[in-house]
Amino acid sequence: MAQTYEDMDAIAMLKADHRKVEEIFAAFEKATSKAKKQALAEQACLELKVHTVIEEEIFYPACKGEIEEDLLKEAYVEHDSAKQLINEIEAGGPEDDFYDSKVKVLSEMIEHHVEEEEKRSEGMFSQARAAGLDMDALADAMRARKATAMEEFQAGKPAEPLTLREENGGEEPSLDEVATPAP
Ligand SMILES: [Fe+2]
Ligand SMILES: [Fe+2]
Repeated sequence: MAQTYEDMDAIAMLKADHRKVEEIFAAFEKATSKAKKQALAEQACLELKVHTVIEEEIFYPACKGEIEEDLLKEAYVEHDSAKQLINEIEAGGPEDDFYDSKVKVLSEMIEHHVEEEEKRSEGMFSQARAAGLDMDALADAMRARKATAMEEFQAGKPAEPLTLREENGGEEPSLDEVATPAP
């Protein structure tokens, strides 16, 4: 029997999110009507915003000090690049010249990022598993945060980049400032 979302550990949960977003991007590629494209693009953006929040507030801080630091820092920067495109896509529509291109580039960025997370042995998830993180406790925390994040973003909150100078009054924050576990 397929595992339900409620029973998944942290890595299974994050991977299930990845598969869901990949399906939405695949459907976008096939869609022909503008309305359908916009609905799918917005669904992908919402799912990605929620996913980045649970990783950044819960999973990534738990990884800090436990996995290769460069990999962790790159993941934050990749999230932030994706968030800039997500906010652009959400502010626009399929009548825009670059709309489809932005969705396509976002999907390619996410494909690369997911590869870095899921890669066998040296990927982030493999390193986190090898480090012995408590994947059930992390899953519970992520499920709870997922519900509140979904509400916040459905109410119209934009994605918030963490590592960018322009978002931080001209100063680049440190990893310690960015990867603070959720209270
Ligand atoms: Fe992820
Ligand atoms: Fe990620």
